[in-house]
Order: sequence, then C-alpha cells, then structure tokens
Amino acid sequence: MNSGRSSHFLTGSPPEDVTRAVFSRMAPDYERNAILERASGERLLDMLALGPMDFVLDLGCGPGHLTRSIRARTGGKLVGVDASAGMVAQARWNARGQDITFLIKDAEHLDFEHGFHVLFCNSAFHWFSSPERVVGGCLRALRRGGWLGLQVPATRQWFTLARDVAAAAAIHPRTREVFSRFRNPIFALGSVEEYVSLFSGGGFDVHDAWLELETTRHTPKEAFALFQAMAGAAFFNPNCYGDGADGAFFADLAQVAGDVIATQTADDGLIDVTVQRLYLFAVKPLTV
Ligand SMILES: C[S@@+](CC[C@H](N)C(=O)[O-])C[C@H]1O[C@@H](n2cnc3c(N)ncnc32)[C@H](O)[C@@H]1O
Repeated sequence: MNSGRSSHFLTGSPPEDVTRAVFSRMAPDYERNAILERASGERLLDMLALGPMDFVLDLGCGPGHLTRSIRARTGGKLVGVDASAGMVAQARWNARGQDITFLIKDAEHLDFEHGFHVLFCNSAFHWFSSPERVVGGCLRALRRGGWLGLQVPATRQWFTLARDVAAAAAIHPRTREVFSRFRNPIFALGSVEEYVSLFSGGGFDVHDAWLELETTRHTPKEAFALFQAMAGAAFFNPNCYGDGADGAFFADLAQVAGDVIATQTADDGLIDVTVQRLYLFAVKPLTV
C-alpha cells in the first residue's frame, strides 16, 4: 500500500493501492490497446452461448468493452465488477444509457449470493492474488447449474514478450539493479490439470479446459501498446519492486521494451506476439 504515490492518479477519490492505481491510469487507453483481449473475450462469449435473459456477472470487467458486448447478447441483469476505480469510471462512461451496473469491487471479496446464471471472466484471473478465494466467491455468486466461462493468459509461458523484456531488463546496465527486485504479481500455474484442480477443489464441475497458443503479427507500435495493456500493471508498477523504481527507471524500462520489440521485428516491419491462453468452462453443481 502506498496511497501517497497513487493519489495523483485519481484526484478526489479515496486513495487506491498502487496496483489498482496503475490499472486506473491505464483505463482511458486500455480499450483501444487491448485488441487481443477483446478478440479472446468475444471468442469466450461465443462459446458460452448466453441465453436471451441470462443474468451475467463480468468479473474484472476493465472499461467494460466486453460487458457491452454481453449487453447486446442478453436482456437479463448485467453487472460488471472491477477493483480499479478508474476502470469502473471509464466503464460507466462508455456504457452510459445502457442498462449495466458497474461496481468497484475486489474479486477476492465477492459478496453475491446465487444470483447469476453465468459468470464471465476474461483476461483478469491472472491478476488475482488469492485465486482460491476468488473461486469460492464465484461459486457463491452463481445459481445452481450456472456456468463459469474463463479465459486467462496462462502458465509461465503466458506472454513471450513479457518473458523477453524481463530477460533483457535483468541484464541491461540501466535497469538490472532495480529489476533484480522485480516480483512478478502474475498468477500462473504450470498446466491445464492444475487449473482444473483449482476449480474442482473449489466445488465446480469442470466440463472443459484447454490451452491455446495464439500468435499474431503487429507493428512495433502495436506490440508496445499490447505489452503495456497485458503486462504494464506488472512491469510499470512501483509495487512490484523495492526502492528505486522511479520515473527514470520506468523510462529506461520502456526503452528496453522498445529495443526488444525492435530486435524482434522482421524485415516486413512486423513482430510476432505470442500469448498462451487457458479456456475453462465449469458448472456449479445442482447439489451445492
Ligand atoms: C487485463 S484487464 C482485463 C479487462 C477485461 N476483462 C478484458 O478482457 O479486456 C484486468 C482487469 O482486472 C482488474 N483486476 C485486477 N485485480 C483485480 C481484483 N483483485 N479484483 C477485481 N478486478 C481486478 C483490473 O483492474 C483490470 O481492469
């Protein structure tokens, strides 16, 4: 917690912890930059095949681009929750006039009781620090027979660009000292089976789960924006370092990331960006 450092991100609001403030600072640009997250989220929604009046909870909704897509697919109650006040403010603004409730709420303290037919969680689960607790809250939030649909960048191979920037920052003379104190907040298990165990252990019947390796080609500018959207809340987050992670360090780190992207850019001016994603579908048993 470093409310002094975070307070300038959200003037007039209660102080957020640093991680939430980093997400809040990303909120205005997130939707434009998160093209891969939108694509995976739309795919998850297609597979969930919502009913016309399903009640849906969008967990870790960000600025609500996918929540609005859910609104177009069902007429039932729709709630988006996110721990970042900036993301929720952006989501409310983007969805003004639409019948969607957005709440500032930590996934680790969900207090919904059996109200939803579907719980949708796209590209957010890896940011949760107590996954078991989140799974318990998800189970409680669903009606019996309700579905959970999850997509999350997963395993330690979740994002090759993050791996490569970390390797470069660990040896670059201008970043290596501070970067040696980097504590990656990303939650990652080693295999599909471990993710299945996490949800089965929390009371869900897991119907299907698999990993997909997704490679897309981008301009260096797009790749940098993707890096920020996907990994910025870790790499550019003072909370993930000890002392010394100041503006100059983050400028150097951004330079290192830009250099990595430039080095990997092919002759046609494009770079491969690879993300490993887990898709998981689970049901709340009728007997719980
Ligand atoms: C990568 S964004 C994903 C946003 C959106 N679901 C999408 O697919 O584009 C991750 C979101 O998770 C939120 N988040 C991180 N930790 C959270 C927590 N403990 N509780 C609720 N939301 C959290 C962040 O504020 C951020 O908006």
